Amino acid sequence: MLLRIHQALQPGELAQVRELILGADWADGRITAGSQSGTVKNNLQLPEELPAAQQARHIVSVALARNPMFVTGALPKSVYPPLFNRYGGDTNNFGNHIDNAVRTHAASARHVRTDISCTLFLSDPASYDGGELVVQDTYGEQRIKFDAGDLVMYPGTSVHRVEPVTRGERLACFFWIESMVRSDAQRRLLYEMDMAITSLRQKDLERAAQGAAESPEVVRLTGCYHNLLRMWAEV
Ligand code: NI
Repeated sequence: MLLRIHQALQPGELAQVRELILGADWADGRITAGSQSGTVKNNLQLPEELPAAQQARHIVSVALARNPMFVTGALPKSVYPPLFNRYGGDTNNFGNHIDNAVRTHAASARHVRTDISCTLFLSDPASYDGGELVVQDTYGEQRIKFDAGDLVMYPGTSVHRVEPVTRGERLACFFWIESMVRSDAQRRLLYEMDMAITSLRQKDLERAAQGAAESPEVVRLTGCYHNLLRMWAEV
């Protein structure tokens, strides 16, 4: 499932994050690459221990935790602390690769299985050429270049790349999620069901305002959602 979350960062948060990271010292992006991806990775990355990276990471983490669509779509068990990258000039692309299956966070020695890969766009798409995130999935290639502040979540199992940036620069935040539900197909079903139930409940609330009773189908469907989640979740 490929999911877009509009304005995962509010404009004020986006401006703060950009200011923090633009003023920091960037390093070669291969610091976190595996042996295959290291050969095709050509970008810059913010060393995670820098105070600017820590502050920007905190802003992103708080924004995600309060976002219901992020929580519903990802069912996060563990989130790898967000990292930041930069494409432009001579360091402007990242060829085809699949992200490592397990990331170990150096500072905490915590392991995160990368069920979901995330990119949070931090640059206005009109300010740079190229830089599309190209994700190969069963329906063909998806070319993704979202508004600044928008997030894309896609299965960690996908081959993907970032096209060369030929004008301007592309800033982004990226990270991985270990989900309570490992299977992408199961997560997708739960997401569809949750969205449908939320919409039905909204209609129920509108009817309740006119004195109607809550419909028993909504109660039963909500029960089905939780019972599927109980069956599939690893916590
Ligand atoms: Ni990747």
